[in-house]
Amino acid sequence: MTKVLVAFATRFGSTREIASAIAAELIAEGIEAVAAEATSSLNPDDYDAFVIGSPLYGRKWMSVAGMFAAITSERINGKPVVLFSVGTLGVGSPEAGRTEHDEFVARLKEVAPKLNVISDEVFTGYFERSNLPWYLRIIDRFAPTPQGDHRDWAAIHAWANLVATKFKG
Ligand SMILES: Cc1cc2nc3c(=O)[nH]c(=O)nc-3n(C[C@H](O)[C@H](O)[C@H](O)COP(=O)(O)O)c2cc1C
Repeated sequence: MTKVLVAFATRFGSTREIASAIAAELIAEGIEAVAAEATSSLNPDDYDAFVIGSPLYGRKWMSVAGMFAAITSERINGKPVVLFSVGTLGVGSPEAGRTEHDEFVARLKEVAPKLNVISDEVFTGYFERSNLPWYLRIIDRFAPTPQGDHRDWAAIHAWANLVATKFKG
């Protein structure tokens, strides 16, 4: 049976819940999956395929997730990898959210050319204005992001289902 690691980074917890939902969907599709915070204690040899995800902060993934992806790519001999980002830029403009994600994935592939990315996606996350540092609150005034939970669980489950099909195929 395919064994999948869903490795994630998170600061406030919304990406952890998305990673858990992805793992649950993979399990429902008959795949052995586990969601775990991306750390160096995870052994990539234990898995056949990888889902790696992070929230976007300042147009970039959290460094633990990027480092995990880059280091893992050196050890997994081209095993399949799917990537997901979480952010709130896409709440107001799905195109801008997608572009930011695409730009990050392109940079990640430059530093980790061995990463065999077979799919990637960006999901809208959870926005809490009080989490922003003062200078970003000023920027946010010009195009305010609606406060609250923007996670689209139907889209997350649908993508995870597609990923299950790819991992099984
Ligand atoms: C300081 C700060 C910077 C952020 N920068 C971005 C960004 O560049 N792009 C984006 O789409 N979302 C951005 N966000 C929104 C987060 O990605 C979103 O809240 C996400 O759901 C947080 O995930 P977490 O709860 O797993 O930490 C930012 C949020 C904060 C607080």
